[in-house]
Amino acid sequence: MSTPRAFVTRTLLPEALDIIREVADVTVWPEETPPPVEELRRQAGSSDGILTTIMDRVDADLLDAAPNLRAISQLAVGLDNVDVAEATRRGIPVGYTPGVLAKSTADLAMALLLGAARRTSESERWLRGGGWQIQFHPTHWLGQDVHDACLGIVGLGQIGREIAKRARGFDMDIVYHSRTRYTDMEAEYGVRYAEFPDLLGQADFVVLSVPLTPQTHHLISGPQLALMKPSAILINVSRGPVVDPAALYEALRDGQIARAALDVTSPEPISMDDPLLTLDNLVITPHIGSAALPTRLNTMKLAARNLVAGLRGEPMEACANSEATP
Ligand code: DGY
Repeated sequence: MSTPRAFVTRTLLPEALDIIREVADVTVWPEETPPPVEELRRQAGSSDGILTTIMDRVDADLLDAAPNLRAISQLAVGLDNVDVAEATRRGIPVGYTPGVLAKSTADLAMALLLGAARRTSESERWLRGGGWQIQFHPTHWLGQDVHDACLGIVGLGQIGREIAKRARGFDMDIVYHSRTRYTDMEAEYGVRYAEFPDLLGQADFVVLSVPLTPQTHHLISGPQLALMKPSAILINVSRGPVVDPAALYEALRDGQIARAALDVTSPEPISMDDPLLTLDNLVITPHIGSAALPTRLNTMKLAARNLVAGLRGEPMEACANSEATP
């Protein structure tokens, strides 16, 4: 049998590429930006497997152009750019990377939560701008306490659970809302189930850790923001479109909620003209939830192993549609 051909849409760390090179002839897209749609179609058209990121659209059009494709491996836990149902119909397994990045993403959620509560970015900007003229001022930079506050976690998947574990260490009172009620996890993670409107009404911090689906698109918009406390802080580490950015802007501008911290935006990258960027009560990072070196390496290696398994016709370690595996 001839050596399979794999197309990797972004440069990976060498340790991960080596895993694929052991079994396939690998073409790596060399640019910083993703391959244009036509290039992706061309490359997929002559490949047996592709390794994608969240910026590559894998839909019926692409799959039509790739008759030999027998493995798709996504370097992410989120699959909102991949039409998994379409891949399943064609018997193509889709790998993804759950597990390996949940802890790092939860770490970042806590960093954003703490940073927004204690106003670290805002006060640093003030300091660097020459604002720190008096050594100590009893009423300057008053933020919010994290300990003993109520944290509402929306989505109790792997990332949500890791956030709950961390929040317990901060003595937070934790409520969650999820499609499924996890009674077994309520004791293990010290969390209470709440209906979504109740969670929004009680929480001092609301953290979003849900996948982007048609049901979670603009899950947080005007009516939901109106249910939140004026002192509440919203944290999004899931996908940008889970929050309606225009509604969030108005809520932050008008003091309907106190602050927000976003690792994800809609669109990405956020436009430099976006009104959200004019607000001091917003902490924002450029989609770096899983961007810690050991985690990223493990994520890349898992995606590489998934691709190799798919090319060999073996079950992938993490497959979103195991029914598609031959
Ligand atoms: C994920 O794994 O879904 C992260 O958001 C990176 O794409």
